[in-house]
Order: sequence, then C-alpha cells, then structure tokens
Amino acid sequence: MNVLVTGGAGYIGSHTCVELLTSGYEVTVIDNLCNSNPKSLARVEELTGKTVKFYKGDVRDEALLRRIFSENRICGVIHFAGLKAVGESVAMPHTYYDNNLNTTLALTKVMAEVGVKNLIFSSSATVYTADNEMPLRETSRTGNCTNPYGWTKFMTEQILSGIAHADNRWSVVLLRYFNPIGAHESGRIGEDPRGIPNNLMPYITQVAVGRREYLSVYGNDYDTHDGTGVRDYIHVVDLAKGHVAAVKYALENTGCEVFNLGTGTGYSVLDMVKAFNDANALEVPYRITERRPGDIATCYADPTKSAQLLGWKAEKNLTDMCRDSWNWQRSNPNGYGE
Ligand code: NAD
Ligand code: UD1
Repeated sequence: MNVLVTGGAGYIGSHTCVELLTSGYEVTVIDNLCNSNPKSLARVEELTGKTVKFYKGDVRDEALLRRIFSENRICGVIHFAGLKAVGESVAMPHTYYDNNLNTTLALTKVMAEVGVKNLIFSSSATVYTADNEMPLRETSRTGNCTNPYGWTKFMTEQILSGIAHADNRWSVVLLRYFNPIGAHESGRIGEDPRGIPNNLMPYITQVAVGRREYLSVYGNDYDTHDGTGVRDYIHVVDLAKGHVAAVKYALENTGCEVFNLGTGTGYSVLDMVKAFNDANALEVPYRITERRPGDIATCYADPTKSAQLLGWKAEKNLTDMCRDSWNWQRSNPNGYGE
C-alpha cells in the first residue's frame, strides 16, 4: 500500500517515512523543499534499504497532484506540508494563510476527484485555548489562537471536519502534536532549523555544539514547580509511529477523529537542561531572561484516547530524547548542510 506524504522531506515527515517503510508501506513524497533538504530522503532510503518516490513541487499545484495520483496507487495521504514558525507567521500572515490553507484545499479537491479519501493531518496543541485545565483532552476548548500559524491549524481542522461531515466516505484523522524533539537513533536524520532556532531543544543542541553562546530561559516566574515553562516533549520517532497507527485507523474507519500525540508528562525548561546535561555529560550554559510573549505556563496532553483507539502510546523517555537530539546535532553540526 502506497502512502503519499506531503512535506515528507521535513523533520517529522522524514521520520514518518522511515516508520512507514519499515512497516511495509510504500512511500511517495511531495515537497517543495522550502524548509528542508533532499538529503533527508536519501538518508531515509539508506536507513531502510527501500526507495522513496519523490516529486519536488508545491502541494498547491493541482496539476502535479493529479499526476502523482495517476502515476501511483495511493491509498491515503499524510499531510505535513506547511509553514510552522510562529513569529514568522505574525510578520507574514498572508504567506501563512496562503500556504497552510491552500495546500489543504488543493489536496482535498484532487483527493475527492480521484476517490482517495483517507487523510491524516498535522495539527498542533496550539489549537487549545490557554485557559484549559491540564491535561488537555481532545474535548478541551479550542480557538482564540494568538498567531496566524495557530489559526491555520484551527481553520484546517474546521475545513477537514466539514469535508468529512459532508461526505461519509472520507476518513480524516487530525493529530494534535505536543512538542516533538529528538531524532532517529542512527543520528542520520533529525531537525535542521534554518536560522536561529525558535524551539527549545534545537537551541540547546546548538549551544552544546558551540554555534550559540548560551540558552535564554524565557522566564522563571511561572506557576510551575521551578518557575519555568512546562511542556509535553515527545520523541519524534514515537510521533512518527503514531502516524503509522493513524494510517491503519484511517483505512479501517470513516468520519473525522482528533487525537492528541503526547506523552502525558510535562517537563520544565530547567528539567530539560538538566536531563540534556545528564544524558550527554555536558554543561549547557543558560541565563534567565524575560518571558516570551504568547507563552503559557503549562501544556501537556491526556493521551488516553490515542491509546484506546489508535493502540498507540509514546515509549521513549526523556533520556532517549536528549541523547538522540545530541547524537544528531553532534554528528551533523550544520544539519544537512554539512
Ligand atoms: P518541517 O518544516 O521540517 O516540514 C514541513 C515540510 O513541508 C518541509 O519539508 C517543507 O519544505 C514542506 N512544505 C512547506 N510548504 C510546502 C508546500 N506548499 N508544498 C510542498 N511542500 C511544502 O516541519 P515539521 O516540524 O516536520 O512539521 C510538519 C508538520 O507538523 C507541519 O504542518 C507543522 O506545522 C506541524 N507541526 C509541527 C510541530 C513541531 O514542533 N515540529 C508541532 C505541531 C505541528
Ligand atoms: C512553540 C510554539 C507553538 C508550536 C510549538 C511546536 C510559540 C509561542 N509557540 O510552542 O505554537 O506549536 O512550538 O512547534 O512559539 N524556551 C526557552 N528558551 C528558548 C526556547 C524556548 O526558555 O530559547 C521555553 C519556552 O518558553 C517554553 C519551552 O521552552 O516554555 C518550549 O518552547 P518551544 O520549544 O518554543 O515550544 P512551545 O512554546 O511549546
């Protein structure tokens, strides 16, 4: 069975390609490489000993999508392609709405034409409102997003649930990721952010490798056990396995279902620095600085529904995440740029 992976050359996409291939699926990728390097797919092939059929192009290109569906017997689609930098989305809202919404609209239009109606979408815990109680359940309140990136995830969920509601042959799975970190244990694929990293773990690893001087810890006056922000970090390989489970679920069910992909455990920024240092026998320098606007104190998942319906739960622990993040960074100090 052949799965089309949009954005498959990216961080989560490349790890998911590995898990799909090792689970017996064939994989076709469309990616315009606006935030990735084709070396990631070469390394997916090297790791699995299998071939990835790659189309370089934009998911908004309907003619290209039609060609892909006519040249391959696709059974379902995992839709990762999108822009994801929160700050950039505030500065470039049109670019974000255009890319993140029109990719989904073009894709679902062509999928409906060709009769492929199984779709897994990369949503985010960012769709939950800040005033929810923890842990976050799939039924927790959503909306009130604080930036265009978050709105594109919220709106895409609306679009896809409407499509599934209107035509009961669709099977749509909305996956709300918590904080993916880590890398494949081989150190051959991993996260390769362009410019200054926005997210915590890539920043820590770039400090550790000497590309940045110190980590800024954004505030130590939150209402958490040590005052720093608490998040639900999940190993990217666990997350990738969640997609394989979601493909199976989509092939066996119809309708629209939403799932949290998180571990259910929250760690603070200082917990993360300590875990990273302990796992790798390093000492990452840090300074406490101002809070980052838009940040919340605490965010972690209730992953019960995913365990019950997808038969999936995260298996790797914080030491695995810290070790694998560092292994990737240390062996690829400049990412795929080498
Ligand atoms: P990434 O940037 O590494 O991967 C996204 C891929 O999509 C890139 O390879 C990029 O080149 C491609 N792409 C973007 N727009 C495209 C277009 N119009 N046509 C074709 N290809 C296009 O990001 P990632 O971390 O792997 O995230 C994958 C998805 O998961 C994104 O939708 C992201 O918003 C979502 N997500 C990520 C996180 C996270 O922390 N990484 C959290 C929640 C949700
Ligand atoms: C961020 C995004 C969110 C997105 C998620 C996953 C913002 C406001 N939110 O969430 O929309 O879904 O990434 O991609 O950007 N931290 C530091 N120093 C740093 C970086 C981070 O102290 O240099 C802290 C943050 O304040 C936070 C924690 O580390 O408490 C995690 O930050 P980050 O990795 O950016 O993830 P989120 O804030 O959860």
